[in-house]
Amino acid sequence: MRRPIANEFMADPRIREAKKVLLQTRDEYSARLTGVRPPDSDLKMDYERLMREYGDLRGGRLFYPYLGSGLGNGALVELADGSVKYDFISGIGVHHWGHSHAAIMEASLDAALSDTVMQGNLQQNVESVELARTLLEGGNRKGARLAHCFFSTSGAMANENALKVMFQYKYPANRILAFEGCFMGRTLALSHVTDKPEYRVGLPAGVSVDYVPYYVDERPEESTGRSLDQLKRHLKRYPGKHAGMVFELVLGEGGFLPGNREFFRELMQVLRAHEIPILVDEIQTFGRTTELFAFQYFGLDDFVDVVTVGKASQVCATLFTDELTPGPGLLSQTFTSSTAAIRVGRLIVRQLMDGGFLGPAGRIARFHDRFVTRLQEMEARLPDVVHGPYGIGAMVAFTAFGGHAEKVNRFIHALFDAGVIGFYAGADPTRVRFLIPVGAVTFNDIDAAVTITENTLARMCR
Ligand SMILES: Cc1ncc(COP(=O)(O)O)c(C=O)c1O
Repeated sequence: MRRPIANEFMADPRIREAKKVLLQTRDEYSARLTGVRPPDSDLKMDYERLMREYGDLRGGRLFYPYLGSGLGNGALVELADGSVKYDFISGIGVHHWGHSHAAIMEASLDAALSDTVMQGNLQQNVESVELARTLLEGGNRKGARLAHCFFSTSGAMANENALKVMFQYKYPANRILAFEGCFMGRTLALSHVTDKPEYRVGLPAGVSVDYVPYYVDERPEESTGRSLDQLKRHLKRYPGKHAGMVFELVLGEGGFLPGNREFFRELMQVLRAHEIPILVDEIQTFGRTTELFAFQYFGLDDFVDVVTVGKASQVCATLFTDELTPGPGLLSQTFTSSTAAIRVGRLIVRQLMDGGFLGPAGRIARFHDRFVTRLQEMEARLPDVVHGPYGIGAMVAFTAFGGHAEKVNRFIHALFDAGVIGFYAGADPTRVRFLIPVGAVTFNDIDAAVTITENTLARMCR
């Protein structure tokens, strides 16, 4: 049998030796990043100039003065000004395995030796099949019926594809149901689903959306009843007009609010009775609860028709059941993703499934517990300033300064300067949120990050 020459190339001892040398050298340099470090004063001026230039080039300032140097060590990342920080936001969920992770670097080296940088729908390499197979295996491990996996280069595009699949399946239905406070992305269509008026200023109306109130943890029954009533009212007002309902099982941008199994199941039962497809947007939740998918955590496997993933998976994707298979031409783009992202995505998904991360005693649960315990201790010491913590798995948040947006914004910038990168989420209250890089973090990192957080809060209160 003739095998591809590429297989021989990758197994060539010279390649293996060269990779070993590269990775060992990288390890040596990474190991020099041992903790938070302030910027190098000699680099300050150049860095500030670079930041200003980049702001001008992109037509708007960056949220943080962050330009990475290209080196990291686990949860630590070095910036081009020589500073070192704990990255507890991971590019809003992308660097789930931290920075300069050995296995990720190796997969990226393999990708660099491959023939192309980008792969596309017309010409893919073999690893695309492996990633699609792995995502579907993961998606169906608790009984869902996902049959297909279509790649794209952003979470928004994965969601666009999901909506297109549902609209075509339910044609001529022309409306979508979604939760109040949801975030789906910022394309022209999704800006109208994302429940944030500021994100659609000046944009012409697109998709028609009917909103259902989200779950309120303090009043489970009342909240479930209210949402069910609202859903039924929408269905009555526009019979046969809904192509699907979008579920964000933990409101991410909306403030790290987890829903509830019974709440979701009751809504989903009504949708099922009306033959309305169910889309679960897992762009942020994928790989972050104590199950691979949040729909598995909430036990909704029997309901999901379409699921979107992104961020931690590196490559974004729309997974759907066989019934929803679209006609030819509905889905395609030039790019599926970069070769590195495809290889690294598969590695991360595989490690999430097989590396002891999932389940009530898995690594995600243990990191969550450690982080939450430390934040509770902090709350006990600063009861007038901090409330919480909130969240689930690798998504952890707390409220500071009563959730006052301006003060929270000032705080997260002060925290950034002090060496911990977090972010905000929600409005009224605006929370401080963290996305724990579970593939890289240690208990010591968590302890150190919370100490810096507490010191920064205390400084701001003086
Ligand atoms: C739940 C959810 N859906 C969709 C998106 C959009 O993904 P992207 O920014 O990759 O387009 C995000 C991004 O934060 C998200 O959190």
